[in-house]
Amino acid sequence: MSDNSFGRLLRVTTFGESHGPAIGCVVDGLPPGIAIAPEDFRQDLERRATGRTRHTSARRESDEVEILSGVYEGVTTGTPVALLIRNTDARSKDYSRIAAQFRPGHADYAYWQKYGVRDPRGGGRSSARETTMRVAAGVIAKKWLAERHGVRIQGWLSQLGAIVPEGFDLSVVEDNPFFWPHAEQVPALEAYMDALRKSGDSVGARVDVIAEGVPPGWGAPIYGKLDGALAAALMSINAVKGVEVGDGFASVAQSGSEHRDVMHADGFQSNHAGGVLGGISTGQPVRCSVAFKPTSSLRLPVEGLDVHGDVVEVVTTGRHDPCVGIRATPICEAMVALVLMDQALVHRAQCGDVGEVPPRIPGEPAEGSKKR
Ligand SMILES: Cc1cc2nc3c(=O)[nH]c(=O)nc-3n(C[C@H](O)[C@H](O)[C@H](O)COP(=O)(O)O)c2cc1C
Repeated sequence: MSDNSFGRLLRVTTFGESHGPAIGCVVDGLPPGIAIAPEDFRQDLERRATGRTRHTSARRESDEVEILSGVYEGVTTGTPVALLIRNTDARSKDYSRIAAQFRPGHADYAYWQKYGVRDPRGGGRSSARETTMRVAAGVIAKKWLAERHGVRIQGWLSQLGAIVPEGFDLSVVEDNPFFWPHAEQVPALEAYMDALRKSGDSVGARVDVIAEGVPPGWGAPIYGKLDGALAAALMSINAVKGVEVGDGFASVAQSGSEHRDVMHADGFQSNHAGGVLGGISTGQPVRCSVAFKPTSSLRLPVEGLDVHGDVVEVVTTGRHDPCVGIRATPICEAMVALVLMDQALVHRAQCGDVGEVPPRIPGEPAEGSKKR
């Protein structure tokens, strides 16, 4: 069985465990001629990394990418690109206490039942350390999408526990450790997280991602739906319990006359669909929203079971994120990028000769009535 790969023409395989010597990925199907250098990965890996603020896990990895194959004289050659990042700050002794226990809410029990054996160090393969490689692969996809199609992908934290943004300005998202779109609220978020960390508890979060500039035609009806692929990719991220495309579950309470996105010559007048109709992109911005559950590794003791079925007190020490959603924005962006690039390649393979079909309706009216 291989469930460590995804994508059809752009195929990404990740490998490695949280406390193994290294993690890595193989990105196969990349068109030749994409310029890639190790420093291209730095910014997004830094955005995902732990230990950069007190609001995330204190583990501090250097996350230096080694390009092992598929790149010659700075450009992809069309052969598999293998990327490797060495783990340098693993502290496996932190996990000795819970090695034989099942953390409620974590993957320990499910892995144990499936495989009959498990690597407990740092969560092994179930650790979000794996998502580092998704972000690395996503850097290449983002680059290709931007250069080839002018696609821009941006994520932000759209809810932290019960707190929602009281304003919306995407230009401030990169200036704060929460990827929060309202700068004035950041001190309140800091205070909230400080109190949460002190309490030993954790909280959930929501991340939104928008991809602008996606042309119409990507995705396919029935089993190849773009929204289906986005949902599967985003749902594959650790701790994700829900994915919405466009208005998602809010559509339930809407009327058809409200939900339909009216088309005028100057552009779509709204974007309730999230840029996908019939499984195919419409040229509107592609909008997704992702729900993250609260972290399950807690300092708060709870009665649980160990691998022998004996009752034990489960307490998780070690370094953990009090809110996993805070670092998840670049991971969600990467998954959206990888899906979009894969779909772009699939569309090119089947429909590359179709060309631009009139009338081409702008995704949004030029200015003013942008609705997200
Ligand atoms: C960015 C990120 C960081 C995470 N950090 C932690 C953590 O520090 N401690 C923890 O118990 N779970 C953490 N998780 C969640 C676990 O990896 C996840 O809950 C676990 O693998 C079980 O899988 P499931 O929640 O998808 O069912 C993190 C998830 C993400 C996306």
